[in-house]
Amino acid sequence: MGVAEQQKIILENGYLNFEVDPSLDLFAEIARLKKEKNAVLLAHYYQEPDVQDIADYIGDSLGLAQQAEKTKADIIVFAGVHFMCETAKILNPGKKVILPDLRAGCSLADSCPAGEFKKFIDQHPDHVVISYINCSAETKALSDIICTSSNAVAIVNSVPKEKKIIFAPDRNLGRYIISKTGRDMVLWNGTCMVHEIFSLEKISKLKQKHPQAKFIAHPECEPAVLELADYIGSTTGLLNYSASNSANEFIVATETGIIHQMAKESPGKTFIPAPPNNSCACNDCPHMKLNTLEKLYLCLKYELPEINLPEDLRIKALKPIKRMLEISAQHGL
Ligand code: 13P
Ligand code: SF4
Repeated sequence: MGVAEQQKIILENGYLNFEVDPSLDLFAEIARLKKEKNAVLLAHYYQEPDVQDIADYIGDSLGLAQQAEKTKADIIVFAGVHFMCETAKILNPGKKVILPDLRAGCSLADSCPAGEFKKFIDQHPDHVVISYINCSAETKALSDIICTSSNAVAIVNSVPKEKKIIFAPDRNLGRYIISKTGRDMVLWNGTCMVHEIFSLEKISKLKQKHPQAKFIAHPECEPAVLELADYIGSTTGLLNYSASNSANEFIVATETGIIHQMAKESPGKTFIPAPPNNSCACNDCPHMKLNTLEKLYLCLKYELPEINLPEDLRIKALKPIKRMLEISAQHGL
């Protein structure tokens, strides 16, 4: 089958839905293909455990962007979501960037379409525009500086006090940064479908049942949930806190994938996922979890689906991402 036909299948399905021989050792095959093609596998903490275990690098959004920028590999296989692949391509355009399932998007990125965001910016002239990395390349191109959950406070503090700020697209992270910096920011009204779902009532009950447990939360959670937290941080921040804190039990309000790394780093400790406000598995990100071992294998084998961007868009989006990386480096992040 030719590449044009494969592209057609991806357009229809989002990925190459070929049958994979069930007798194949996918771990060995993926390792072989990575070596043969000089590919690096970057994975976010929200990936399924098997994918995390074979990654060359696992990290949060900032760590992944930094790795993507400096990799010498020819191919970046990104076990994450679409905006992460775009960021990798923007930072390192000479590399082939591939994503196992093109449908792996992000509710937060979707909440801030560039056309609407442009109107919002025009309504607030003379504001510095800071956008969370969870947005499209088009939205990044309209921004002055990008941030992630691990450097957002440093990025906001880098803006002179007299300047007004627009912060997009996550209103919860925005409110959290306001509480940390005292800055008055205009917020875009976006949320993450995973982090807005936690039940305050169930968390309170769980805390009563486990009085010794530390409650740790990602800043994308609702303010009332964050108020209960003993520690608030990015995925890497939460992981480091759980490893270094002397507590033996942790209630974790973020996507469940991170618990795999927490348990690996602190085998004797107990990690309890914070409950969502209904009985679904809503604290599993449906986008992140679209990447499976089978799709990863097919993606590496056929080097598809590939992420590409028009060069003028890439150049525009590069500037605010570079600014973020410079400020992060100044702060040792
Ligand atoms: P971090 O990786 O920066 O913690 O962000 C979490 C997230 O929701 C990524 O999509
Ligand atoms: Fe987007 Fe939330 Fe999924 Fe992260 S966890 S990719 S912010 S929907």
